[in-house]
Amino acid sequence: MTDAANSEHTFAPSRDFVNQANVNDPGVYDEAERDPEAWWESHARQLRWTREWDTTLEWDPPYAKWFLGGTLNVSDNCLDRHVEDGYGDKVAFHWEGEPGDTRTVTYAELLSEVSTFANALKGLGVSKGDPVTIYLPMVPELPVAMLACARIGAPHSVVFAGFSAQSVVDRVEDANSKVLITADGSYRKGNIVPLKESADKAMQGTDKIEHCVVVKRTGEDVAFTEGRDVWYHDLLDGADDDCPPEEMDAEDTLFLLYSSGTTGKPKGIQHTTGGYLTQAAVTHRLVFDLKPDTDVYWCAADIGWITGHTYIVYGPLANRATSVMYEGAPDHPDKDRLWEIAEKYGVTILYTAPTAIRAFMKWGPEYVERHDLSTLRLLGSVGEPINPEAWLWYHEHIGGGNCPIVDTWWQTETGGIMITPLPGMTETKPGAAMRPFPGIKPVVVDDEGNPVERGESGLLTLARPWPGMLRTLWNDDERYVQTYWARFGKAIYFAGDGARLDEDGDIWLLGRVDDVMNVSGHRLSTAEIESALVSHDAVAEAAVVGRSDAQTGQAVSAFVTLLSGQHSSDELRRQLREHVAERIGKLARPAELMFTDDLPKTRSGKIMRRLLRDIAEGNEIGDVTTLANPTIVKQIQQEAQTARSS
Ligand code: WTA
Repeated sequence: MTDAANSEHTFAPSRDFVNQANVNDPGVYDEAERDPEAWWESHARQLRWTREWDTTLEWDPPYAKWFLGGTLNVSDNCLDRHVEDGYGDKVAFHWEGEPGDTRTVTYAELLSEVSTFANALKGLGVSKGDPVTIYLPMVPELPVAMLACARIGAPHSVVFAGFSAQSVVDRVEDANSKVLITADGSYRKGNIVPLKESADKAMQGTDKIEHCVVVKRTGEDVAFTEGRDVWYHDLLDGADDDCPPEEMDAEDTLFLLYSSGTTGKPKGIQHTTGGYLTQAAVTHRLVFDLKPDTDVYWCAADIGWITGHTYIVYGPLANRATSVMYEGAPDHPDKDRLWEIAEKYGVTILYTAPTAIRAFMKWGPEYVERHDLSTLRLLGSVGEPINPEAWLWYHEHIGGGNCPIVDTWWQTETGGIMITPLPGMTETKPGAAMRPFPGIKPVVVDDEGNPVERGESGLLTLARPWPGMLRTLWNDDERYVQTYWARFGKAIYFAGDGARLDEDGDIWLLGRVDDVMNVSGHRLSTAEIESALVSHDAVAEAAVVGRSDAQTGQAVSAFVTLLSGQHSSDELRRQLREHVAERIGKLARPAELMFTDDLPKTRSGKIMRRLLRDIAEGNEIGDVTTLANPTIVKQIQQEAQTARSS
């Protein structure tokens, strides 16, 4: 193991990189620190406002309002503005389908399709303020649908296409949306994912949906319910392409994005218009050093997650970037697919997740070496702590040893990047997210909320509001306060991550400190998986923990006790794993599932998840005699041993 945390080795950007960087003056940190509001304001001014704001920040902890009184439209900023400036023919997306079909979408085309679809949505009765649920794969219609919603002021709620029908039901019900946008299917690893089937199942589970818009992607036969279902292309045919953007208040809701929390119910994280777009645009421009006229930028995430919202759709489009967008799996038809695409389009900036990088490492550098990646000039990482080995491999094998790497820490809640190197000035350390973005104020604290010294670890907090921050949880202010602003007081945001300050004061992220897991960079809640398991007829009780996994970062380990009269079997194990996939999505399916007669509990009846985590990891376990049922531990250990070796 490379102990990069203690290594002297830092990576400075080359002189050439520094000279051409969008920002290379360390003075920006002081400037932003002296007057954070003025700093954010200067970046808000780069957007097109229909009315200037009166108040930059109104902070009534824990509620923030940014650019109060200002009005603008996000779709206008992402599209009309550029077309009017003469960039209509510039490519917004080089889109590539998994089977190899391609589409090139220019800014003018995007504007026209967004406007037409916005009118079509109005025709379906969608007005300003009505949440629209979008359940689409990575096809160009996904950003189109989001921008069309933004154009008419309807908040979108995108549900990741890998999520189950039940997840769609939960989100539709919570958001109270009447329109669902989906596709007949999509391609993944050479197979067709029958998305419309899931959507139909979802619409059996909720009666809220009045209209279901279906994008034709695969052309497979799908069931169609007259009066409710309508083809996307038919809607476009009947609609006008002139749709003036709605003038939105800076604080109007742009979107909801549901994310896993520490309890079973996903949280509707609510983002607004002016502050979010300001932070999306400035972080995208400075962290990725974007040069709109020459760069080909590729964020290889899925738009169903916040990374895709901010760094495939809103940030890049606000900055007039040309992006690559890819529908499918990185190993289809072969393990060099991403590198083939990167070479074909001459990608200059690549943003991906450590779990993907570890997969590339496992597959071996020969897949990378088949292609010329010399156009790459900057690499990014997001989603989980990047281990130094993966960082160094990324640097050497993908970046050819000369691309700065930006390891970016942020969350669905933060809206945009918060802790990151700035590539034209930060000397990076493999595995560290390094420094706050200018204007951001992270403080690592101990359990009492006191800042830790250099060289110590603690909990990550944010001690100052920022423009892209969530405003609340949809219809649940109380949970908003409880989750983020209760632990250290109303003005200190508790992120739920552990962090370490090194001797230089640089920040290393250490992973979640709560019952949120991070599997392949995706957030999952242990409580949500537990309640999925318990909803199965055979199950009495379940406990779920995340154990470390060399590939996916963490993996789901489940411990299950059955109702009396039920018998454990491999078949039941298979059924339970499928049951979780069906309730939540395949990525939540337990990697291993152990049957046990009981779960280890304290005398007050609390499940000892920490002990289960140690068992799942194969760690030594300490004294268990204080448990209510100490004898059960041996049995669970044996089960876990068998599961690990099978
Ligand atoms: C984790 C994704 C370490 C962290 C943008 C956070 C990271 C959660 C990093 C948010 C990073 C994200 N280093 N950990 N660079 N980036 N995380 O909401 O635990 O899907 O709290 O947002 O991912 O996940 P989310």
